[in-house]
Amino acid sequence: MFEAAPIQADSKAALYAGLAAQARALLEGEHDRIANAANLSALAYQALPDLNWAGFYFYDGAELVLGPFQGKPACVRIPLNRGVCGAAASQRRTQVVPDVHAFPGHIACDAASRSEVVVPLVHRGELIGVWDVDSPLPGRFDEDDRQGMEALCAVFLASLA
Ligand code: SME
Repeated sequence: MFEAAPIQADSKAALYAGLAAQARALLEGEHDRIANAANLSALAYQALPDLNWAGFYFYDGAELVLGPFQGKPACVRIPLNRGVCGAAASQRRTQVVPDVHAFPGHIACDAASRSEVVVPLVHRGELIGVWDVDSPLPGRFDEDDRQGMEALCAVFLASLA
């Protein structure tokens, strides 16, 4: 059984390094996209403070479709020209949004969300989806979170067959 021990860390960088190590151990030897997305959502949601949503949307060739997540039920389909998720996917660039109310076209799935980070998932040159994390705190995510989330996504992408 995998035991996600509490990560002792005195900096965000150390917290994310510990989380990435746990993620590698958790996904080791498993290539199933849904299983790994589900476990990674659960791991991140447990380990990172002040989150109200963490999960995946997968690209079906036309739009983003809800995948495994932790948090309240969310909107199922997001066109690439909408929301923070659509921006990350279409620009293939991580979006760090300190105030979602100030982001044009932000899609409110949980009214409690105040800040958000979305990482595009590009596998072998192709967009396969996004990793989306919300917080009820304004300005919850900074440059350390961007780097840490991107490193976590790299573990997920490396796990895929
Ligand atoms: N807020 C996102 C939608 C997804 S939910 O936050 C889970 C967006 O604007 O794309």
